[in-house]
Amino acid sequence: MTIRSSSDHADSTVTSDRTVTSDHTVTSDRPGQAPAFPMVRTCPYAPPPEYAELRARGPLVRVRAPNGTVVWVVTRWAEARQVLTDRRVSTDSSRPDFPVLDEREVTEEQSAARDKLRAGFFIDQDPPEHDVLRRMLIPEFSVRRINQLRPRIQRITDERIDAMLAAGPPVDLVAEFGLPVPSMVICELLGVPYADRELFQSRTRRMVAASTDPRDGMQAVMEIRDYLDDLVRRAAAAPEDNLIGRLVRGPVAKGDLTLDALVGMAFLLLVAGHETTASMIPLGVFTLLREPGQLAEVRADPDLWPRAVEELLRYQSVVDWVAFDRMAVEDLEIGGVRVSAGDGIFVLGASAGRDDRVFGDPDRLDVRRDARHHLAFGYGVHQCLGQNLARAELEIAYRTLFDRIPGLRTDLPDEELAFRYDAGIFGMHSFPVTW
Ligand code: HEM
Repeated sequence: MTIRSSSDHADSTVTSDRTVTSDHTVTSDRPGQAPAFPMVRTCPYAPPPEYAELRARGPLVRVRAPNGTVVWVVTRWAEARQVLTDRRVSTDSSRPDFPVLDEREVTEEQSAARDKLRAGFFIDQDPPEHDVLRRMLIPEFSVRRINQLRPRIQRITDERIDAMLAAGPPVDLVAEFGLPVPSMVICELLGVPYADRELFQSRTRRMVAASTDPRDGMQAVMEIRDYLDDLVRRAAAAPEDNLIGRLVRGPVAKGDLTLDALVGMAFLLLVAGHETTASMIPLGVFTLLREPGQLAEVRADPDLWPRAVEELLRYQSVVDWVAFDRMAVEDLEIGGVRVSAGDGIFVLGASAGRDDRVFGDPDRLDVRRDARHHLAFGYGVHQCLGQNLARAELEIAYRTLFDRIPGLRTDLPDEELAFRYDAGIFGMHSFPVTW
Protein backbone atom coordinates (compact mmCIF):
# COMPACT_ATOMS: atom_id res chain seq x y z
CA MET A 1 0.00 0.00 0.00
CA THR A 2 1.58 3.22 -1.06
CA ILE A 3 0.17 6.65 -0.91
CA ARG A 4 -0.67 9.27 -3.44
CA SER A 5 -0.71 12.23 -1.15
CA SER A 6 -1.43 15.92 -1.36
CA SER A 7 2.27 16.26 -2.05
CA ASP A 8 1.49 15.05 -5.59
CA HIS A 9 -0.13 18.40 -6.15
CA ALA A 10 2.04 21.20 -7.38
CA ASP A 11 1.47 23.47 -4.39
CA SER A 12 2.22 21.00 -1.65
CA THR A 13 5.81 19.91 -1.74
CA VAL A 14 6.93 18.77 1.68
CA THR A 15 9.88 20.89 2.70
CA SER A 16 10.07 21.33 6.44
CA ASP A 17 10.61 18.84 9.20
CA ARG A 18 8.39 19.99 11.99
CA THR A 19 6.21 23.00 12.54
CA VAL A 20 4.80 22.35 15.96
CA THR A 21 6.91 24.11 18.55
CA SER A 22 7.64 22.77 22.00
CA ASP A 23 4.78 24.84 23.44
CA HIS A 24 2.45 23.07 20.96
CA THR A 25 1.85 26.14 18.83
CA VAL A 26 1.13 25.24 15.23
CA THR A 27 3.26 27.69 13.33
CA SER A 28 2.42 27.38 9.67
CA ASP A 29 -0.56 26.98 7.39
CA ARG A 30 1.40 26.21 4.24
CA PRO A 31 1.18 22.61 3.04
CA GLY A 32 4.94 22.47 2.68
CA GLN A 33 5.20 23.22 6.37
CA ALA A 34 2.30 21.13 7.54
CA PRO A 35 2.45 20.19 11.24
CA ALA A 36 3.64 16.72 12.12
CA PHE A 37 0.93 14.08 12.53
CA PRO A 38 -0.09 12.18 14.56
CA MET A 39 0.04 14.47 17.55
CA VAL A 40 0.19 12.87 20.99
CA ARG A 41 -1.73 13.45 24.17
CA THR A 42 0.19 14.90 27.07
CA CYS A 43 -2.64 15.12 29.60
CA PRO A 44 -5.23 12.54 30.70
CA TYR A 45 -8.08 15.06 30.48
CA ALA A 46 -7.57 16.42 26.99
CA PRO A 47 -6.80 15.53 23.39
CA PRO A 48 -3.35 16.51 22.02
CA PRO A 49 -2.81 20.20 22.86
CA GLU A 50 -2.35 21.15 19.18
CA TYR A 51 -5.96 20.26 18.36
CA ALA A 52 -7.46 23.48 19.74
CA GLU A 53 -5.32 25.57 17.45
CA LEU A 54 -5.90 23.36 14.42
CA ARG A 55 -9.65 23.57 15.08
CA ALA A 56 -9.45 27.37 15.29
CA ARG A 57 -7.52 27.47 12.05
CA GLY A 58 -10.05 25.57 9.96
CA PRO A 59 -12.35 22.57 9.63
CA LEU A 60 -9.79 20.74 7.48
CA VAL A 61 -6.07 21.31 7.95
CA ARG A 62 -3.08 19.74 6.20
CA VAL A 63 -0.67 17.73 8.35
CA ARG A 64 2.38 15.63 7.57
CA ALA A 65 2.75 11.95 8.44
CA PRO A 66 6.06 10.37 9.58
CA ASN A 67 6.67 9.08 6.04
CA GLY A 68 6.39 12.63 4.65
CA THR A 69 2.91 12.21 3.25
CA VAL A 70 0.67 15.25 3.55
CA VAL A 71 -2.91 14.39 4.51
CA TRP A 72 -5.96 16.30 5.78
CA VAL A 73 -7.20 16.19 9.33
CA VAL A 74 -10.82 17.11 10.03
CA THR A 75 -10.96 19.15 13.21
CA ARG A 76 -14.61 20.16 13.66
CA TRP A 77 -17.77 18.20 14.45
CA ALA A 78 -19.98 19.26 11.50
CA GLU A 79 -17.34 18.61 8.86
CA ALA A 80 -16.38 15.32 10.55
CA ARG A 81 -19.97 14.11 10.13
CA GLN A 82 -19.94 15.33 6.54
CA VAL A 83 -16.79 13.37 5.73
CA LEU A 84 -18.07 10.24 7.47
CA THR A 85 -21.28 10.23 5.41
CA ASP A 86 -19.86 11.31 2.05
CA ARG A 87 -19.97 8.46 -0.47
CA ARG A 88 -17.04 10.06 -2.31
CA VAL A 89 -14.87 9.27 0.68
CA SER A 90 -13.61 5.69 0.95
CA THR A 91 -12.37 3.56 3.82
CA ASP A 92 -11.16 0.74 1.57
CA SER A 93 -7.52 0.32 2.52
CA SER A 94 -6.92 -2.17 -0.30
CA ARG A 95 -6.96 0.73 -2.78
CA PRO A 96 -3.40 1.00 -4.08
CA ASP A 97 -3.13 4.69 -3.18
CA PHE A 98 -4.84 4.52 0.21
CA PRO A 99 -3.03 6.70 2.79
CA VAL A 100 -0.56 5.05 5.11
CA LEU A 101 1.38 6.90 7.76
CA ASP A 102 4.30 4.52 7.93
CA GLU A 103 5.59 2.71 4.88
CA ARG A 104 7.96 0.28 6.52
CA GLU A 105 7.51 -2.95 4.58
CA VAL A 106 5.74 -6.01 5.87
CA THR A 107 6.81 -9.46 4.62
CA GLU A 108 5.17 -11.11 1.59
CA GLU A 109 3.67 -13.77 3.80
CA GLN A 110 2.18 -11.08 6.05
CA SER A 111 0.86 -9.17 3.09
CA ALA A 112 -0.88 -12.33 1.80
CA ALA A 113 -2.41 -12.95 5.25
CA ARG A 114 -3.67 -9.37 5.37
CA ASP A 115 -5.32 -9.74 1.95
CA LYS A 116 -7.06 -12.89 3.13
CA LEU A 117 -8.31 -11.17 6.26
CA ARG A 118 -9.91 -8.38 4.22
CA ALA A 119 -12.70 -10.71 3.10
CA GLY A 120 -14.78 -10.17 6.23
CA PHE A 121 -13.07 -7.13 7.72
CA PHE A 122 -15.94 -4.82 6.79
CA ILE A 123 -14.70 -1.78 8.73
CA ASP A 124 -12.28 -1.39 5.80
CA GLN A 125 -14.88 -1.95 3.08
CA ASP A 126 -17.15 0.48 1.24
CA PRO A 127 -20.80 -0.09 0.41
CA PRO A 128 -22.28 -2.22 -1.06
CA GLU A 129 -19.87 -5.01 0.09
CA HIS A 130 -19.70 -3.49 3.57
CA ASP A 131 -23.48 -3.33 3.97
CA VAL A 132 -24.03 -6.99 3.07
CA LEU A 133 -21.76 -8.18 5.87
CA ARG A 134 -22.87 -5.60 8.43
CA ARG A 135 -26.53 -6.49 7.86
CA MET A 136 -25.84 -10.11 8.84
CA LEU A 137 -24.77 -8.89 12.30
CA ILE A 138 -27.34 -6.21 13.08
CA PRO A 139 -29.74 -8.53 14.98
CA GLU A 140 -26.85 -9.62 17.22
CA PHE A 141 -26.23 -6.05 18.43
CA SER A 142 -29.76 -4.59 18.53
CA VAL A 143 -30.95 -2.78 21.68
CA ARG A 144 -33.34 -5.68 22.36
CA ARG A 145 -30.58 -8.23 22.08
CA ILE A 146 -28.23 -6.27 24.29
CA ASN A 147 -30.97 -5.82 26.90
CA GLN A 148 -31.25 -9.62 27.00
CA LEU A 149 -27.49 -9.76 27.62
CA ARG A 150 -27.57 -7.26 30.51
CA PRO A 151 -28.11 -9.81 33.32
CA ARG A 152 -25.13 -11.78 32.04
CA ILE A 153 -22.96 -8.63 31.83
CA GLN A 154 -24.07 -7.77 35.37
CA ARG A 155 -23.08 -11.23 36.64
CA ILE A 156 -19.66 -11.06 34.97
CA THR A 157 -19.12 -7.59 36.47
CA ASP A 158 -20.17 -8.75 39.95
CA GLU A 159 -17.87 -11.77 39.79
CA ARG A 160 -14.91 -9.57 38.92
CA ILE A 161 -15.70 -7.26 41.83
CA ASP A 162 -16.09 -10.27 44.17
CA ALA A 163 -12.61 -11.38 43.10
CA MET A 164 -11.18 -7.88 43.70
CA LEU A 165 -12.76 -7.70 47.16
CA ALA A 166 -11.49 -11.18 48.01
CA ALA A 167 -7.95 -10.29 46.93
CA GLY A 168 -8.08 -6.99 48.84
CA PRO A 169 -6.44 -3.67 47.92
CA PRO A 170 -4.41 -2.53 46.10
CA VAL A 171 -5.75 -3.86 42.79
CA ASP A 172 -4.84 -3.01 39.20
CA LEU A 173 -8.18 -1.94 37.76
CA VAL A 174 -6.99 -2.53 34.18
CA ALA A 175 -5.88 -6.14 34.65
CA GLU A 176 -8.53 -7.18 37.18
CA PHE A 177 -11.60 -5.37 35.89
CA GLY A 178 -11.34 -3.16 32.77
CA LEU A 179 -9.89 -5.83 30.53
CA PRO A 180 -11.65 -8.98 31.81
CA VAL A 181 -15.24 -7.66 31.74
CA PRO A 182 -15.50 -6.81 28.00
CA SER A 183 -13.22 -9.73 27.07
CA MET A 184 -15.46 -12.24 28.84
CA VAL A 185 -18.58 -10.71 27.30
CA ILE A 186 -17.30 -10.75 23.71
CA CYS A 187 -15.85 -14.26 24.16
CA GLU A 188 -19.22 -15.63 25.28
CA LEU A 189 -21.07 -13.78 22.54
CA LEU A 190 -18.79 -15.04 19.78
CA GLY A 191 -18.03 -18.50 21.14
CA VAL A 192 -14.31 -17.89 21.74
CA PRO A 193 -12.95 -19.68 24.87
CA TYR A 194 -11.99 -17.08 27.49
CA ALA A 195 -9.16 -19.41 28.47
CA ASP A 196 -7.45 -18.30 25.23
CA ARG A 197 -7.56 -14.61 26.22
CA GLU A 198 -3.82 -14.17 26.56
CA LEU A 199 -3.44 -14.87 22.85
CA PHE A 200 -5.82 -12.19 21.59
CA GLN A 201 -5.37 -9.61 24.38
CA SER A 202 -1.59 -9.43 24.13
CA ARG A 203 -1.60 -9.34 20.34
CA THR A 204 -4.30 -6.66 20.22
CA ARG A 205 -2.16 -4.52 22.52
CA ARG A 206 0.76 -4.99 20.12
CA MET A 207 -1.41 -3.97 17.19
CA VAL A 208 -2.55 -0.69 18.75
CA ALA A 209 0.77 0.34 20.35
CA ALA A 210 2.28 3.21 18.38
CA SER A 211 5.78 1.95 19.09
CA THR A 212 5.09 -1.36 17.32
CA ASP A 213 7.03 -1.92 14.12
CA PRO A 214 4.55 -2.61 11.25
CA ARG A 215 6.05 -6.09 10.77
CA ASP A 216 5.49 -6.92 14.38
CA GLY A 217 1.98 -5.46 14.18
CA MET A 218 1.20 -7.63 11.16
CA GLN A 219 2.66 -10.64 12.94
CA ALA A 220 0.18 -10.03 15.78
CA VAL A 221 -2.66 -9.76 13.23
CA MET A 222 -1.61 -13.06 11.64
CA GLU A 223 -1.48 -14.86 14.95
CA ILE A 224 -5.01 -13.82 15.91
CA ARG A 225 -6.22 -14.64 12.38
CA ASP A 226 -4.65 -18.11 12.43
CA TYR A 227 -6.19 -18.80 15.83
CA LEU A 228 -9.64 -17.73 14.64
CA ASP A 229 -9.26 -19.60 11.36
CA ASP A 230 -8.86 -22.80 13.31
CA LEU A 231 -11.73 -21.94 15.67
CA VAL A 232 -14.12 -21.04 12.81
CA ARG A 233 -13.37 -24.25 10.90
CA ARG A 234 -14.06 -26.32 14.02
CA ALA A 235 -17.28 -24.36 14.60
CA ALA A 236 -18.29 -25.00 10.98
CA ALA A 237 -18.09 -28.74 11.65
CA ALA A 238 -20.11 -28.53 14.87
CA PRO A 239 -21.86 -25.15 15.23
CA GLU A 240 -22.98 -24.17 18.73
CA ASP A 241 -25.44 -21.54 19.96
CA ASN A 242 -23.21 -18.49 19.74
CA LEU A 243 -22.66 -15.75 17.15
CA ILE A 244 -20.16 -17.73 15.08
CA GLY A 245 -22.38 -20.83 15.23
CA ARG A 246 -25.44 -18.82 14.15
CA LEU A 247 -23.55 -17.38 11.16
CA VAL A 248 -22.42 -20.91 10.23
CA ARG A 249 -26.00 -22.21 10.35
CA GLY A 250 -27.38 -19.17 8.53
CA PRO A 251 -25.40 -17.26 5.87
CA VAL A 252 -22.56 -19.80 5.56
CA ALA A 253 -25.00 -22.70 5.04
CA LYS A 254 -26.92 -20.64 2.48
CA GLY A 255 -23.72 -19.84 0.59
CA ASP A 256 -23.93 -16.09 1.38
CA LEU A 257 -20.76 -16.02 3.52
CA THR A 258 -17.44 -17.81 3.02
CA LEU A 259 -15.53 -19.24 5.95
CA ASP A 260 -12.65 -16.85 5.18
CA ALA A 261 -15.06 -13.91 5.46
CA LEU A 262 -16.42 -15.32 8.71
CA VAL A 263 -12.85 -15.40 10.07
CA GLY A 264 -12.38 -11.72 9.09
CA MET A 265 -15.66 -10.80 10.76
CA ALA A 266 -14.79 -12.73 13.93
CA PHE A 267 -11.41 -10.97 13.98
CA LEU A 268 -13.01 -7.53 13.75
CA LEU A 269 -15.59 -8.30 16.45
CA LEU A 270 -13.09 -9.85 18.85
CA VAL A 271 -10.55 -7.03 18.58
CA ALA A 272 -13.02 -4.10 18.38
CA GLY A 273 -15.20 -5.77 21.01
CA HIS A 274 -12.71 -5.80 23.85
CA GLU A 275 -9.90 -3.25 23.43
CA THR A 276 -11.97 -0.06 23.18
CA THR A 277 -14.26 -0.83 26.12
CA ALA A 278 -11.28 -2.11 28.11
CA SER A 279 -9.70 1.35 27.63
CA MET A 280 -12.86 3.24 28.56
CA ILE A 281 -13.63 1.36 31.80
CA PRO A 282 -10.50 2.32 33.81
CA LEU A 283 -10.25 5.72 32.12
CA GLY A 284 -13.87 6.56 33.00
CA VAL A 285 -13.32 5.46 36.61
CA PHE A 286 -10.15 7.57 36.78
CA THR A 287 -11.91 10.62 35.31
CA LEU A 288 -14.80 10.37 37.79
CA LEU A 289 -12.45 9.89 40.76
CA ARG A 290 -10.72 13.12 39.78
CA GLU A 291 -14.10 14.91 39.55
CA PRO A 292 -15.65 14.03 42.93
CA GLY A 293 -18.46 16.58 42.47
CA GLN A 294 -19.55 14.93 39.22
CA LEU A 295 -19.26 11.47 40.72
CA ALA A 296 -21.40 12.55 43.69
CA GLU A 297 -24.10 13.76 41.28
CA VAL A 298 -24.41 10.40 39.51
CA ARG A 299 -24.27 8.54 42.78
CA ALA A 300 -27.10 10.66 44.14
CA ASP A 301 -29.16 10.13 40.98
CA PRO A 302 -28.29 6.76 39.34
CA ASP A 303 -30.67 7.53 36.43
CA LEU A 304 -27.89 9.87 35.30
CA TRP A 305 -25.54 6.96 34.47
CA PRO A 306 -26.51 6.69 30.77
CA ARG A 307 -25.83 10.42 30.35
CA ALA A 308 -22.57 10.17 32.29
CA VAL A 309 -21.46 7.33 29.98
CA GLU A 310 -22.10 9.46 26.87
CA GLU A 311 -20.25 12.37 28.42
CA LEU A 312 -17.25 10.21 29.33
CA LEU A 313 -17.20 8.82 25.78
CA ARG A 314 -17.18 12.37 24.37
CA TYR A 315 -14.67 13.66 26.88
CA GLN A 316 -12.13 10.89 26.35
CA SER A 317 -12.88 9.98 22.67
CA VAL A 318 -10.34 7.17 23.00
CA VAL A 319 -10.35 6.09 19.35
CA ASP A 320 -9.56 9.63 18.07
CA TRP A 321 -8.25 9.32 14.48
CA VAL A 322 -7.08 5.73 14.49
CA ALA A 323 -10.12 4.09 12.90
CA PHE A 324 -11.05 7.19 10.95
CA ASP A 325 -8.65 6.83 8.05
CA ARG A 326 -10.27 7.73 4.76
CA MET A 327 -9.42 8.71 1.19
CA ALA A 328 -11.23 11.04 -1.21
CA VAL A 329 -12.07 9.10 -4.39
CA GLU A 330 -13.34 12.22 -6.20
CA ASP A 331 -12.57 15.92 -5.92
CA LEU A 332 -14.83 17.43 -3.30
CA GLU A 333 -15.36 20.48 -1.15
CA ILE A 334 -15.92 20.29 2.59
CA GLY A 335 -16.28 23.31 4.86
CA GLY A 336 -15.10 25.53 2.02
CA VAL A 337 -11.90 23.50 1.58
CA ARG A 338 -11.13 21.78 -1.72
CA VAL A 339 -9.98 18.20 -1.33
CA SER A 340 -8.58 16.37 -4.35
CA ALA A 341 -9.21 12.78 -5.38
CA GLY A 342 -6.49 10.65 -3.82
CA ASP A 343 -6.03 12.83 -0.74
CA GLY A 344 -5.91 11.08 2.62
CA ILE A 345 -8.35 12.33 5.24
CA PHE A 346 -8.16 11.56 8.96
CA VAL A 347 -11.11 12.55 11.13
CA LEU A 348 -10.02 13.73 14.59
CA GLY A 349 -12.79 12.30 16.74
CA ALA A 350 -11.29 13.75 19.92
CA SER A 351 -11.15 17.23 18.38
CA ALA A 352 -14.78 17.01 17.21
CA GLY A 353 -15.73 16.17 20.81
CA ARG A 354 -14.21 19.47 21.99
CA ASP A 355 -15.80 21.63 19.29
CA ASP A 356 -17.50 24.51 21.12
CA ARG A 357 -19.77 25.13 18.13
CA VAL A 358 -21.61 22.02 19.33
CA PHE A 359 -20.64 21.33 22.95
CA GLY A 360 -20.75 24.33 25.31
CA ASP A 361 -17.71 24.64 27.58
CA PRO A 362 -16.32 21.48 25.95
CA ASP A 363 -13.29 21.02 28.20
CA ARG A 364 -15.52 20.64 31.24
CA LEU A 365 -16.81 17.20 32.22
CA ASP A 366 -20.53 17.55 32.85
CA VAL A 367 -22.45 14.35 33.60
CA ARG A 368 -25.75 16.20 33.06
CA ARG A 369 -24.84 17.24 29.52
CA ASP A 370 -26.71 15.64 26.62
CA ALA A 371 -23.65 14.40 24.71
CA ARG A 372 -25.27 11.62 22.67
CA HIS A 373 -24.26 13.25 19.40
CA HIS A 374 -20.54 12.84 20.14
CA LEU A 375 -18.49 11.06 17.50
CA ALA A 376 -16.74 8.61 19.83
CA PHE A 377 -18.60 5.79 18.04
CA GLY A 378 -18.15 7.38 14.62
CA TYR A 379 -20.97 8.33 12.27
CA GLY A 380 -22.46 7.14 9.00
CA VAL A 381 -22.32 3.63 7.58
CA HIS A 382 -19.38 2.58 9.75
CA GLN A 383 -20.81 3.91 13.00
CA CYS A 384 -19.84 1.47 15.74
CA LEU A 385 -21.84 -1.74 15.39
CA GLY A 386 -21.15 -2.63 19.03
CA GLN A 387 -22.24 0.70 20.54
CA ASN A 388 -25.29 -0.70 22.37
CA LEU A 389 -23.12 -3.39 23.88
CA ALA A 390 -20.39 -0.90 24.82
CA ARG A 391 -22.93 1.44 26.47
CA ALA A 392 -24.39 -1.44 28.50
CA GLU A 393 -20.95 -2.64 29.58
CA LEU A 394 -19.76 0.83 30.60
CA GLU A 395 -22.91 1.69 32.48
CA ILE A 396 -22.98 -1.61 34.39
CA ALA A 397 -19.23 -1.51 35.08
CA TYR A 398 -19.15 2.08 36.44
CA ARG A 399 -22.40 1.88 38.39
CA THR A 400 -21.66 -1.48 40.02
CA LEU A 401 -18.07 -0.63 40.87
CA PHE A 402 -18.96 2.65 42.61
CA ASP A 403 -21.99 1.04 44.33
CA ARG A 404 -20.12 -1.93 45.68
CA ILE A 405 -16.84 -0.20 46.54
CA PRO A 406 -17.95 3.25 47.72
CA GLY A 407 -14.52 4.06 49.13
CA LEU A 408 -12.74 3.37 45.83
CA ARG A 409 -9.79 5.72 45.31
CA THR A 410 -6.29 6.00 43.94
CA ASP A 411 -3.51 7.33 46.12
CA LEU A 412 -1.24 8.13 43.19
CA PRO A 413 -0.97 11.56 41.55
CA ASP A 414 -1.55 11.79 37.77
CA GLU A 415 2.22 11.89 37.07
CA GLU A 416 2.64 8.44 38.60
CA LEU A 417 -0.16 6.81 36.63
CA ALA A 418 0.71 4.99 33.40
CA PHE A 419 -1.35 6.47 30.57
CA ARG A 420 -1.04 5.08 27.04
CA TYR A 421 -0.36 8.46 25.44
CA ASP A 422 1.42 6.89 22.50
CA ALA A 423 -1.12 4.20 21.59
CA GLY A 424 -3.63 4.21 18.75
CA ILE A 425 -6.39 3.84 21.33
CA PHE A 426 -5.97 6.01 24.43
CA GLY A 427 -6.11 4.23 27.77
CA MET A 428 -4.10 3.20 30.79
CA HIS A 429 -1.40 0.53 31.04
CA SER A 430 -2.37 -0.07 34.64
CA PHE A 431 -4.44 1.72 37.28
CA PRO A 432 -3.67 0.87 40.93
CA VAL A 433 -6.73 1.52 43.10
CA THR A 434 -7.46 0.98 46.76
CA TRP A 435 -10.44 1.39 49.14
C1 HEM B 1 -16.12 2.26 24.15
C2 HEM B 1 -16.17 1.33 23.26
C3 HEM B 1 -16.09 1.53 21.77
C4 HEM B 1 -15.69 2.61 21.03
C5 HEM B 1 -15.20 3.96 21.54
C6 HEM B 1 -15.81 2.24 19.63
C7 HEM B 1 -15.53 3.09 18.57
C8 HEM B 1 -15.76 2.78 17.24
C9 HEM B 1 -15.61 3.70 16.14
C10 HEM B 1 -15.14 5.14 16.27
C11 HEM B 1 -15.96 3.06 15.00
C12 HEM B 1 -16.04 3.65 13.60
C13 HEM B 1 -14.84 3.43 12.75
C14 HEM B 1 -14.95 4.04 11.36
O1 HEM B 1 -15.77 4.92 11.10
O2 HEM B 1 -14.16 3.64 10.50
C15 HEM B 1 -16.31 1.70 15.37
C16 HEM B 1 -16.67 0.72 14.49
C17 HEM B 1 -16.94 -0.58 14.86
N1 HEM B 1 -17.02 -1.08 16.14
FE1 HEM B 1 -16.76 -0.06 17.85
N2 HEM B 1 -16.26 0.96 19.55
C18 HEM B 1 -16.45 0.48 20.82
C19 HEM B 1 -16.92 -0.75 21.20
C20 HEM B 1 -17.22 -1.78 20.33
C21 HEM B 1 -17.72 -3.07 20.73
C22 HEM B 1 -18.01 -3.54 22.16
C23 HEM B 1 -17.88 -3.80 19.59
C24 HEM B 1 -18.41 -5.20 19.58
C25 HEM B 1 -18.19 -6.10 18.77
C26 HEM B 1 -17.51 -2.95 18.46
C27 HEM B 1 -17.52 -3.30 17.13
C28 HEM B 1 -17.32 -2.43 16.08
C29 HEM B 1 -17.43 -2.81 14.68
C30 HEM B 1 -17.77 -4.20 14.16
C31 HEM B 1 -17.19 -1.66 13.92
C32 HEM B 1 -17.18 -1.54 12.40
C33 HEM B 1 -18.54 -1.07 11.91
C34 HEM B 1 -18.63 -0.93 10.42
O3 HEM B 1 -17.60 -0.73 9.75
O4 HEM B 1 -19.74 -1.01 9.89
N3 HEM B 1 -17.11 -1.73 18.96
N4 HEM B 1 -16.19 1.57 16.75
